[in-house]
Amino acid sequence: MDITVSIGNILEQDADAIVLNLFEDVTEPAGAPGAADKARNGALQSLIAGGDFKGTFKQISVLYPQSGLRSPRLILIGLGKQDAFTLDRARQTAAVAARQARTLGVKHLASIAHGGGAGALESADAAQAAVEGTLLGTYRFTEYKTETETENNLERFTLVEFDSAKQSEIERGALAGQIIADGVCLARDLANHPGNAMPPSVLADRAAEMAQTTGLRCEIFDQDRIDREGMRTLQAVAQGSAQPPRFIVLEHEGEDPNADPVVLIGKGITFDTGGISLKQGTGMWDMKFDMGGSAAVIGAMQAVARLNLPTRTVGLVAAAENMPGSKALKPGDIVRSMLGKTIEIRSTDAEGRLVLADALCYAARFSPAAAIDLATLTGACVTALGNDASGLMSNNDDLADAISQAGDRTGEIAWRLPILDGHRNAMKSDVADLKNSGGRPGGALTAAAFLEAFVQDFPWAHLDIAGTAWSSAGQPYIPKGATGIGVRLLLDFLRNR
Ligand code: BES
Ligand code: MN
Ligand code: ZN
Repeated sequence: MDITVSIGNILEQDADAIVLNLFEDVTEPAGAPGAADKARNGALQSLIAGGDFKGTFKQISVLYPQSGLRSPRLILIGLGKQDAFTLDRARQTAAVAARQARTLGVKHLASIAHGGGAGALESADAAQAAVEGTLLGTYRFTEYKTETETENNLERFTLVEFDSAKQSEIERGALAGQIIADGVCLARDLANHPGNAMPPSVLADRAAEMAQTTGLRCEIFDQDRIDREGMRTLQAVAQGSAQPPRFIVLEHEGEDPNADPVVLIGKGITFDTGGISLKQGTGMWDMKFDMGGSAAVIGAMQAVARLNLPTRTVGLVAAAENMPGSKALKPGDIVRSMLGKTIEIRSTDAEGRLVLADALCYAARFSPAAAIDLATLTGACVTALGNDASGLMSNNDDLADAISQAGDRTGEIAWRLPILDGHRNAMKSDVADLKNSGGRPGGALTAAAFLEAFVQDFPWAHLDIAGTAWSSAGQPYIPKGATGIGVRLLLDFLRNR
């Protein structure tokens, strides 16, 4: 989609539809719509005066005024109560309007940035939200549809601002929104592809292509290199599959290539059958999104590069397929991790923490200023928090606070959970240093306690995105399927450092 910013009166925009908004219980348009309206002798106000449009949140009306504006259609959308308005509502509003426009066959949509005026959002934030909502709301994954459905497509989006003093802020926000939404859509694409199309080798190829186009440094470790590095827990998970593992290193230099970087780490299980501790067949198909953490890291790194953030940032992905082949890891097996700690395998289905153990060990080479891993790690986290918040566990309060604030701002809620000594004890083995499963109680927390054992003295946070990386219901700017969760949170975190 082509995104542009235009300064002027939206009622004079030559588009297939324009979008204006109204807070609940407001009868006179204010802000940008108000100014635009006055310039057109109250054309808009007379439409609202009809009375049906109340401005409740996400209420939508399509009007065909025939005069007073240049576009044939006016999409009026409700913002809800003014004091209940948030940045997330701005994103949702834009998404609802864009989807409605697309359904109507609109190719070129012009809109104001919702909430920039009376909504009290900063201009840049409002613009970013409008662009994100539009791009994320109209995302579709159609690669495997061969029947040519005559689907409508939104081709152009013009963000219109009346006040020329706000131009540079609006442009800055719109560009950030576009780059970040592109990162989210890349992550969604990667995770929506089925397991047969996205084995570790293909995931690595996609990361390398992205690095090539954005100028990131990229190194892919193949089977040989993984062996030479001593990444034995990654190898242990991969050995049951005919698909070889990959370890991906992406690097953005930032302002100072010698600075301690922020390291992002993704679980990249391209399909999780459970291995010998085989999962139930029902619903197993959705384990194709078990590389959602790595998809988020790759999508975020793309945005980091394109925004040319000042922070040196490293992305690591540990990719393997978890299969019950004849060479597969077995319950009771003991594996020596890259760090040297030994692990008794209690369940081959607790494979994510195994591949992350070596990735966390490798991360220490960069002496991270902070390391954040993202993983669809435990069903227990889904039980605890459902689908509207990711689990956040950390060894550092400042880092955890910064991440939960980024979560609040982006609507990608990260809810902190504790790692207590009881959880650490639950991961001790009688025969090795650790075991990879602590049983049912506190499953998300014992998993985090396991990861923590591989963190060598740097600020670290773990995001369990098992419940948030896939959407079965869909929301205004999160269509059904892979959500790309984590990309926007990470970018907000990095941009606010
Ligand atoms: N990939 C799963 C976790 C998962 C479950 C992600 C549901 C998304 C939705 C992970 O590898 C797993 O199987 N975890 C086990 C751990 C247990 C064996 C200790 C689990 O949660 O049951
Ligand atoms: Mn598993
Ligand atoms: Zn898994």
